[in-house]
Parts: sequence; structure tokens; C-alpha cells
Amino acid sequence: MNKNLALLFLTALLSGCSGEIVNKNSDIVEGYGITTDSGMVVSAHREGSVIGIEIMKKGGNAVDAAVATGFALAVCYPEAGNIGGGGFMLIRTGAGMCEVIDYREKAPLFASADMYLDKLGNVTEGLSLETHLASGVPGSVDGMIAAHKKYGKLPFREVIQPAIDLAEKGFPVTAEQSADFNANRAHFIERNRSLPAFVKDSLWKAGDTLIQKDLAETLIRIRDNGREGFYSGITARRIISEMKRGNGIISEIDLNEYRSVSRIPVTADYKGFKIITVPPPSGGGIILIQLLGMVEPYPLRDWGFHSQKTIHLIVEAERRAYADRSEYMGDPDFMKVNAGQLTAKKYILGRMSTFDEKSASLSREISPGSPGTETSEETTHYSVVDADGNAVAVTTTLNGTFGNSIVADSTGFLLNNEMDDFSVKPGIPNMYGLVGGESNSVQPGKRMLSSMTPTIVEKEGKLFLVAGSPGGSTIPTSVFQVITNVIDFDMNIQQAVDGGRFHHQWLPDNIIFEKNALDSLLVQKLAEMGHELKSRSAIGRVNAIQILSDGKRSGGADKRGNNSACGY
Ligand code: GLY
Repeated sequence: MNKNLALLFLTALLSGCSGEIVNKNSDIVEGYGITTDSGMVVSAHREGSVIGIEIMKKGGNAVDAAVATGFALAVCYPEAGNIGGGGFMLIRTGAGMCEVIDYREKAPLFASADMYLDKLGNVTEGLSLETHLASGVPGSVDGMIAAHKKYGKLPFREVIQPAIDLAEKGFPVTAEQSADFNANRAHFIERNRSLPAFVKDSLWKAGDTLIQKDLAETLIRIRDNGREGFYSGITARRIISEMKRGNGIISEIDLNEYRSVSRIPVTADYKGFKIITVPPPSGGGIILIQLLGMVEPYPLRDWGFHSQKTIHLIVEAERRAYADRSEYMGDPDFMKVNAGQLTAKKYILGRMSTFDEKSASLSREISPGSPGTETSEETTHYSVVDADGNAVAVTTTLNGTFGNSIVADSTGFLLNNEMDDFSVKPGIPNMYGLVGGESNSVQPGKRMLSSMTPTIVEKEGKLFLVAGSPGGSTIPTSVFQVITNVIDFDMNIQQAVDGGRFHHQWLPDNIIFEKNALDSLLVQKLAEMGHELKSRSAIGRVNAIQILSDGKRSGGADKRGNNSACGY
């Protein structure tokens, strides 16, 4: 961190990171709801956001910044930022060309449909989450390098270098991170041969410095050798030796053969706005489009934000969209996912033919329609816009917080536990209560169904909004609420991100809502309509950017975590 940024960080700490902070010695601005002229990065950690903006100021574009931020988050946000996991990057160039780079993990070639079942055919608890068998073949490094090769302006070594410096020199952990490290301490100790950097002699406290020498070495190999610095050579040998130690199944062939895939985004019109989002193997984009399509005919604006009618309508739409997810969505390289049919307006409106404005449906009476899991909460999203209007929305994950908590043999990076996103036994709910079917069963080389929903919205053909969220099954509904908060309820982007959230996912048949998001009278009225409601802690952590009518960029960073908007 240079002197200016150190000063900026101190100011941020002292001010509690609220409002706008301007560094007098540079034109970098950070805080909540900030507005800038040129570039903006909103991510889960201020180090990641600042690094993205610095790359832009060196001449990099939004993809350079997104890749720099992605590698930086692997260092400063090990809860979910990663090189041992996967994700989706949605890119919209200033000229309006859109592409999704799918770097979702894949099941290893030795994987099989019954690999998590015991002899009686029952699911062996923990196997798909806490062990070496939980890891899919990581995709992040290939995906970020592919994106950079196609769109980046700066040399790759320049883009990855700040992450290397951050790992070598260290950074001050936040209060939330110190609590996360301490809460996970026993897992780090139990599951690793030698102690990872996330464990120290005493417990962590806010402001302690986390230095990651092994991770820096791994990043240097990637800097010097590109994808081969990860998928072959020393790093690959260490991943394989880690697999051998823990009876995992990722092999040399899996690593050699892993390739990210370019996919065409799914798109839809919502009240004249163009929604651009990710296709399968994430179900998130289709769910988002179905939700918007199902509520579109109703006067949300007149009914009001968080009114009884609005919440009832949205919940009934969610119930129907998630029923479809359980049946028709999976890896399009392994099955025909009829995204066109599932997002067709006629089909979507037909799904609401049983909607009753006065009372709740029962999920057991709502089946998937006739046309086309839960995921852990710890994923992360970042949004990037540069001075030329190039935009990038990235959601990336290890699945669980810190993945399976296993560091691949002295590489410094955590392995994912993404295999749990498969339906490990069709019909059996996963850890978040989502059920899946054959379409998402484990098969060698297949990508597990995701909920990640990085999304871009256009208004009159121009870039308008970039958004996404972590939160497992709650990702699509969080993104949906932020979009409708802006379009239907006229909120600015920070208000839209701050707005209280609720969620329904067909099964279990209940509405979860953030404590204090809905008042007790409203909860009572919804219960009288037949809804079951449960309050819980934060839902999602949306990081979003809105382009204002004068072209300025406005950053909405979610206060539910240590998220940070940074721009210039
Ligand atoms: N593991 C979270 C997701 O892909 O939805």
C-alpha cells in the first residue's frame, strides 16, 4: 500500500467507513453511495477495490481491473475470494458486446453419482463439504487469464503484481475477518498437515497483519507461467500431493484439461430495461429473469416497497421459479437446458396463472412447470466500470466460508467444497434445504449447478446497472430486489443495496426475512394469508454500480459486510 492509500485507510478506519472519503493527495474516493466521473470498483474488501482502481489509473480497462481485483481478493478475502474455486465473469464492452466467461469448477474425472453415499445409499454427512472429496477442479485462474487475454490492455504481470505484493507485505484484517478466522481455527488445524497462514499463536484481532508467503509464491508462478503456473508444474504437483494425502480424486489430467468456457448471456426485457445475466450452469440468471417476468404485469410502484401486496406477489413468483430450478437446470454441456423456453414471457406468465392475490399457495401443490441446491452463503461479488464504459460483473466462490478449509500442500490457497452444489442424492435437500434432481447429479467432468447471478442492466441501449451478490440460493432474489428497488421504487443505488431483504425458494415452504426488514404488523398480515415467516441475519451482500443520467458512476457497497466502493 502506498503512503497515500495508507493515509486513506486510516481516515476510513477513523470515520467508520461511512460517507465519502476523499484522499486529498489523489483523486481516489471511497465510501458508501459515492459518485465519481470515471472508474468504480465495488468489492468485498477495500484492498481489492483500491487495487482495481489503481490498475485503471495506470491505463488498465475494466477487465484488467476486474482481474487485478479478483487475484487481490484471493489474498485479502480468503473467505470467498479465491484461486482454488470458480465463478462467472460477465463482461459488457463500452460498445455493448456481452460475453460470459464461465470458470465454474468441474467434477473430477474419477467422480461418480454415488460418491457421497454409503453402502445403504444414504448420504455420508460432511463428505461433500469438509473433505478433499468436496473439491471440484478449480477454474478461477484459467477464467481470469482467459478474460485478460481477450480483453485486457495492460500486461498480465502488471495486473497480478499488486496481489503478490499484498500477499508478501500483508494487510490489516478487519474485525469481521478476525472473527471468521477465529471461528474456523479448529477446522484449519484439524484439516491441514501444517498450519496455514490463517492460524497464529494467539487469536486474531482487528488490525492484525495477515502475511501469506506461500500464496505469494503461487501467484508468482502464475505471473511467470500463466495458466501453466497453476495447472501444471509445482502448483499442480502440490495439489495432487494434497489430494493423495487426503484421499481426494483431483488428478493431473483434471488439472491439465480444465478450460473455462465462453457463453452467451441470457437476456430479457423488463419494463423497457434490458437485463443481461448468466446462463447455466448457473440457475441464477434464469431465476432472475423468471422473477422479473412474473411480477412485471403488476403495479409494484403503486403497491409500494415492502407492502403486503408486493411481498406476497414476489414470494409467489419465487416459489414458482425455484420449483423450476429443481427440475430443469444443470450443466448445459451435459443436458439440454431449455433456457429459451424457461425465460419465454408466455411460459413465465403461465406459471402465475394459479397466483391468488389473497392467499399463499402451498409449495407442495406447486410443481415445476412444463416447458426446463443450496449453495453455501459464502461467495463474493464485485462490480467494475471503467472510464470508457466497459463493465464487468464477477461472482466467485469457494462455496463454504474458506471452502473446505484445506490449503493445497504449501501453496497457500484454499480448496473449494463446490461438489456440494451438486445434488449428491437426487431429491435429498442439500445443506440449504434446496432439492435437486438428476439434472444436477454428479458426473465426471460436469459443472455443478450454481446460483451465482452477476448481472448488467441497460437502459435505452446504454449501460445502467452492474450488480451481483453472494448468498447461495438467496443470490438471485437479492439481485432481483436491488433491480426492482431502483427501477420500480426509484431508490438510488446505495438505498437499493441497503433495503431490507426477504427470500422464498419453494422448499422449504417459508419466507425468510432479515431481522428488522419487515415490521411485526406486516409479518402478522402475511401470516394471515397463509405464509410461514422466519427472521434471520443478513441476506446477501450486493455490490453494485449505477450509471447516472449525467454519466457519473455511483457505487452501492453492501454494509452487511466490509464491502467497499472505490472510484475516481
Ligand atoms: N456455491 C455457490 C453457488 O455457486 O451458488
